[in-house]
Amino acid sequence: MSTLDQLAGRLLGDHPRPGVLYGIGAGPGDPGLLTLRAAALLRRLDLVAVPRSVRGGGVAVQAIAAHTAPGSLVELVSDMPADPGAVARGWRGRTAPLVTALDEGRTVGMVTDGDPSLYSTFAHAAAAIVEARPATEVAVVPGVPSMCAAAAVEGRPLAVGADRVAVLPASRLETGDLEAALAAADTVVLLKAGAAIRRLRALLEGPARGWSVRYARRVGLEGEEHADTLDGASADYMALVILRRPTAGGG
Ligand SMILES: C[S@@+](CC[C@H](N)C(=O)[O-])C[C@H]1O[C@@H](n2cnc3c(N)ncnc32)[C@H](O)[C@@H]1O
Repeated sequence: MSTLDQLAGRLLGDHPRPGVLYGIGAGPGDPGLLTLRAAALLRRLDLVAVPRSVRGGGVAVQAIAAHTAPGSLVELVSDMPADPGAVARGWRGRTAPLVTALDEGRTVGMVTDGDPSLYSTFAHAAAAIVEARPATEVAVVPGVPSMCAAAAVEGRPLAVGADRVAVLPASRLETGDLEAALAAADTVVLLKAGAAIRRLRALLEGPARGWSVRYARRVGLEGEEHADTLDGASADYMALVILRRPTAGGG
């Protein structure tokens, strides 16, 4: 029996339990950043749903595949329309097999990239499942968020002391949101940055002039890239940008 197997009993207690929907953070993609609890739980689930975005974003299957039971992985292919009604309808349809599995008494989890509580498709999936099956209990296993993994590679903190951090979805901002974040925070983390690279470049020429910039793409995944400039930054969905006021994060 491996050390992980010995640990699993202590880590999981009476989990996984039938009727519980588990949201499991896979971390940014590096298999070494999957938590012990996630690995132990994944091995014991009958069904593990893995979302994949049509835009190419998605969970690092390689981070979790080695820990799942044979035949347990099910891919949920999703688009993310801007209209919240369309998002909810999409997840109602997509999660129907998970509702059936829960009704059958099987143990069910859904993996998300990074942490399930941060801009995650898990929130939409869990809402749809609980709507269809109100008795469902939801349990979350946290994961390493991509912005923390990016900061670790950079070797620079996101915040120190009284620094204020703002985290924004760059592709979904209203006019003035970025400027407001720059005024309120010392470190501004922009997720979903790929679609907004041109806008972010303009910001660095204007209100964010003098701020440091860090571009991190596919952290822990194939094609990983880090840069201290947005020159040459691609429009990859799996990219984030960290802006720091000159005095923030130990700078
Ligand atoms: C829907 S959000 C999910 C965030 C995720 N829950 C987390 O904790 O990091 C997707 C965005 O997270 C960022 N992201 C997720 N994984 C990443 C990775 N491995 N490298 C760089 N950025 C990543 C990108 O900005 C991407 O557009």
